[in-house]
Amino acid sequence: NRFDIVIAVDGPAASGKGTIARALAAHFGLPHMDTGSLYRAVGLAVLRAGGDPADAPLAAGCARALDLSLLDDPALRESATARAASVVSAHPDVRAALLDRQRAFARQPGGAVLDGRDIGTVIAPDADIKIFVTANLDVRARRRQAETPERDLALVRANLAERDARDSGRDAAPLRQAEDAILLDTSEMDRETAIARAFALAEARLAENPALR
Ligand code: CDP
Ligand code: CDP
Repeated sequence: NRFDIVIAVDGPAASGKGTIARALAAHFGLPHMDTGSLYRAVGLAVLRAGGDPADAPLAAGCARALDLSLLDDPALRESATARAASVVSAHPDVRAALLDRQRAFARQPGGAVLDGRDIGTVIAPDADIKIFVTANLDVRARRRQAETPERDLALVRANLAERDARDSGRDAAPLRQAEDAILLDTSEMDRETAIARAFALAEARLAENPALR
């Protein structure tokens, strides 16, 4: 790229934001960061320490001394870890401890794609392209169930709903669509259609911005 391009992809659990962010990164030749995995690593560290994710000082300590090997741990994708991530991520000191790492990634020469909950609102408010990915709860529950060993669809659905409510309702960097973000509702789209739509939205946004052409 001749210019830095920063792309922010946010949305609720299992909306498909990671899939879209990875596809955009490959399309534009940009590095990608899944910021949810950082919060999952903190949640997993707290659980492994035998602690309670609601314990703010403990969670902040785990965030400051982030154990990067946890990013490759198979337990990172478990629903217990997702729940712990959602609890620890509401502590302002945990978010503060992870801020510089995410900002530095977003500001690297050439640009970057990041996905999470607060990329367009807090981490990279000046991002060139912001996409807010959603899908209705039933669709998201079925998608998440298809990629996990969990067989109880109602339980998967309840876990996602609980996490969304906590992520949207917290005071510190809540999940919300940035004013200048483009909404992409993938409820009725398969993976390929959603990715094609994201490419079209991103290309249109770039074409509007003469500095990036
Ligand atoms: O993949 P999924 O949407 O299920 O979750 P994730 O993106 O891995 O994020 C796990 C949890 O981390 C979320 O439920 C949020 O509570 C938290 N998170 C956050 O607070 N801010 C971010 N930028 C990313 C994730
Ligand atoms: O990152 P996030 O938790 O928002 O979702 P993901 O991991 O990208 O996607 C969750 C699952 O839904 C994956 O197995 C995707 O292949 C699938 N999926 C999708 O991402 N988009 C669709 N339009 C349909 C399915």
